[in-house]
Amino acid sequence: MRSTLIAVFSAVALTAPLLSLASGAFAWKSERPVVIAHRGASGYLPEHTLESKALAYAMRPDYIEQDLTLSKDDHLIVMHDIVLDNITNVAQVFPDRARDDGHYYTIDFTLAELKQLKVSEPFVTNGGVQTPKYPQRFPLWNSSFQLSTLDEEIELIQGLNKSLGYNIGIYPEIKKPWFHHREGKDIALLTLIKLKEYGYVDRRQNIYLQSFDAEELQRIKWELMPRLGMDLPLVQLIADTEWGEKKVETNGELVNYDYDWMLESAGLQKIAGYADGIGPWNMMLIRLEGGLPVSTGLAQRARQQNLVIHPYTFRADVQQLPGKFSRFDNLLQLFIRRLGVDGVFTDHPDKAIRVIDKIYPARPAPEAHYSSRVN
Ligand code: G3P
Ligand code: CA
Repeated sequence: MRSTLIAVFSAVALTAPLLSLASGAFAWKSERPVVIAHRGASGYLPEHTLESKALAYAMRPDYIEQDLTLSKDDHLIVMHDIVLDNITNVAQVFPDRARDDGHYYTIDFTLAELKQLKVSEPFVTNGGVQTPKYPQRFPLWNSSFQLSTLDEEIELIQGLNKSLGYNIGIYPEIKKPWFHHREGKDIALLTLIKLKEYGYVDRRQNIYLQSFDAEELQRIKWELMPRLGMDLPLVQLIADTEWGEKKVETNGELVNYDYDWMLESAGLQKIAGYADGIGPWNMMLIRLEGGLPVSTGLAQRARQQNLVIHPYTFRADVQQLPGKFSRFDNLLQLFIRRLGVDGVFTDHPDKAIRVIDKIYPARPAPEAHYSSRVN
């Protein structure tokens, strides 16, 4: 579906500075949408590194995201993929440790081993040649970056909350629980235990917990959190079935989990029974009609179930803007003013905040309480 929609966008000229939905209806919200720094300030520094998180923090988003996978010795590693291939030099440092499928899995390495790796901007390898996934971003292999743990990242954010006086939240995502279960590991349980250790227990703390796995979210809601005395707000991420984000075993074979039910009213009603919100791919909220983007109705259907809507991922790189959108501002305004989303995952938190500041009254001036302690 992703490629189809982008192809359709590409075929149509969208020239109006602020694109309107065919319905003409604004979905204005009195509450300012939240900005979620997607993998940090990943538009500017290698994703999920502590440096990227510190830069994101300085931009003052509402939340900073952590994608989570497990190491061999059960440390929660903050990275997007379950393999190390496309952001580290693992093939040079541990050339004999790939599995039969040619990939280097994070779960096969201890934390001490993972810390020996250098981290770069994401790259694609073809014929032994690495090319950057995002050509305009931070140069491949420049400077020195490492993988980090959830502990390190929470300590960074909580430390900055203390030293600067803000209250920036975290937005962890449990990556591929089905894969971790097949490897004999319970990543959801380990994540909850870690979050509790750092004081994220219920809705009084600034946190959302997200996953693409509906069954695991239900297990978290009804089994794990009650057992641990926790009650965190949950967000159901929605993928395109074709991406293979979750696999299920059918007749002895691993096949793609079908996500289509999540787009319909009955499915959203079910999600509202265990989650507080949805995180759809942004192109699931609109389609084109007569050349103009119109709502698919997903936002309206989700709102009927009182679900918050946090679409992903808004990227300002010119090559990443869908179809004929030539400006990040226009794309974001469409989702905020016309679709009334409650928040956005973005690689460029500073730019998203600038757009939102133009629509909503600016946030109160930062209370940087360190200033009162100087002298
Ligand atoms: O978690 C929201 C968004 O990050 C989902 O996409 O693949 O970047 O984790 P992904
Ligand atoms: Ca994520």
